[in-house]
Amino acid sequence: MTEVLAAKSLAEGLVSAAMGRVLPPSLSRRDPVVRASEHADFQSNVALSLAGSAGTTPRALAQSLRQELDGGPLLASLSGPGFLNLTLADSALWSLLADRSADPRLGVGRPLAGVRTVVDYSGPNIAKEMHVGHLRTTVIGDSLVRVLAFLGADVVRQNHLGDWGTQFGMLIQYLDEHPEAPWRCSDPTVADAGDQVSALDGLYRVARGAFTADPGFAERARRRVVALQAGDEATLAVWRDLVAVSSEAFQLLYDRLGVQLTRADEAAESSYNPYLDEITEALVAAGIAVESDGALCVFFDDVTGPDGEPVPLIVRKDDGGFGYAATDLATLRHRVDTLKADRILYVVDARQALHFRMVFATARRAGWLPDRVEAVHVPFGTVMGPGGTPFKTRAGGTVRLSELLDAAEDGARAALAEKSHDLTGAELERVARAAGIGAVKYADLSTSRAKNYVFDIDQMVSLQGNTGVYMQYAHARVRAILRKAPEGALDRGVDTALPLHPAERALILLLDGFGAVVGEVGREWEPHRLCGYLFALAKAFTEFYGDCPVLKAPTDELRSNRLVLCRLTGDTLARGLDLLGVEAPERM
Ligand code: ARG
Repeated sequence: MTEVLAAKSLAEGLVSAAMGRVLPPSLSRRDPVVRASEHADFQSNVALSLAGSAGTTPRALAQSLRQELDGGPLLASLSGPGFLNLTLADSALWSLLADRSADPRLGVGRPLAGVRTVVDYSGPNIAKEMHVGHLRTTVIGDSLVRVLAFLGADVVRQNHLGDWGTQFGMLIQYLDEHPEAPWRCSDPTVADAGDQVSALDGLYRVARGAFTADPGFAERARRRVVALQAGDEATLAVWRDLVAVSSEAFQLLYDRLGVQLTRADEAAESSYNPYLDEITEALVAAGIAVESDGALCVFFDDVTGPDGEPVPLIVRKDDGGFGYAATDLATLRHRVDTLKADRILYVVDARQALHFRMVFATARRAGWLPDRVEAVHVPFGTVMGPGGTPFKTRAGGTVRLSELLDAAEDGARAALAEKSHDLTGAELERVARAAGIGAVKYADLSTSRAKNYVFDIDQMVSLQGNTGVYMQYAHARVRAILRKAPEGALDRGVDTALPLHPAERALILLLDGFGAVVGEVGREWEPHRLCGYLFALAKAFTEFYGDCPVLKAPTDELRSNRLVLCRLTGDTLARGLDLLGVEAPERM
């Protein structure tokens, strides 16, 4: 397998070899402590860390190590009281480039091979607008799924649709009394999937209004909930209809966003209903859930409210109904027992942190979540409007997701018009759409996950800075250079005897770090690290391209080397964008 960080491993190998010649066996196998450095390609602090044990000074140890390193593919110099500055020989870096460009995985390993990973993301609620909060879980979840799968994990996507709850009593009762109420758009298409979701949301609002204003209606709505839970066929039929229409509309939005979720990934709340009684009984029998004010609750020593009173997880409400928590316990058990998860990630709003802490702790006590299985809440911050205000329409309503996407596409179209390009007709339209959707996704992913994030379309479609449009341009520019390469120029291979320009060196070292960054995203579940890396790569490429003529390089050999460097940059940008779920058009 290709090394994840070939240049660093090479430097480590060489320092380790020198350690073997200089140090006694008890010390020579220690970590060579090699890190990227600003003063050279890498720096090793091993002399500082081992001098004491070796009975010498850092300076003297660094000096002997340096002598052992001299003359190889590693040029070492000393700095400070015992640091080794390590610079790889030009030929070593050109060979790394040659190896890397023959590796379809671009240096990314498979550290998660065989780890069965359930990822819970999106989970919109039916008959309530799919709003910007659901955009974050959907976009972050989609990127994590792509990264984890690329790192070898066996990924199971789960869309925990909110398709159950007391709001359905209200909706179904309202439809029963107002059969003419418009809620179903005829033949929704991708473009008006948002209208369908909105129509359902409108129904929710009128039903909610009637529920608050009219006690008679409220009573009938409550009876409707009981009928639904008791499996009344006529009630269930309307419920099924509402769910089916919503799911279809959500799917159209997923397709428009280019996220990998399909109907097959749906594991809606209602699918766990048959298990809620048994979950509750088991918790009671084990003494984990106790009755409190008519409700069935689980208490925790370390979970208390501001008043110091314990905050319970409510498994069954005082009216006998089950809620979100009971469903999540059944869900967790299903993921461990049936889906055989080794690890479960919940990509859900940070405001649900306490809920998950209590659900995981309860499931551990009940034995549904054994120690070998890891359950993690992967939280994210709130979406804010421009200026850091809560994200609302002027009238105070939720902002429609599909309208935001329309606005982003318009913004991208305007940004494209500022640049000279030869795109026309359908291709122009396709690129504008990819740029608009990519801008929204990239803006979300490039913000540190835990932070609140400001949804600002003008900034998203900007051609400057760490934006999706900038990254797509950077990629398209590399492809344009490659299209102009003379026949066969890329097939000559890499000439490792040529001197290396500092801008080429910086670019090769950065390309070398791709695998390490992808691995980090897979460990920390933070896609913004990949965005930061790609942005740095695009900038390093710009510098390289400014300093080092490619098509007009002074010799054919150098032109070939530089073209290979361009191609690897293009492939790395494209792969990186793909792992973020952002398209990388060939031309822009
Ligand atoms: N429907 C929930 C919401 O909109 C998200 C579901 C998250 N997943 C879970 N297993 N609870 O907040």
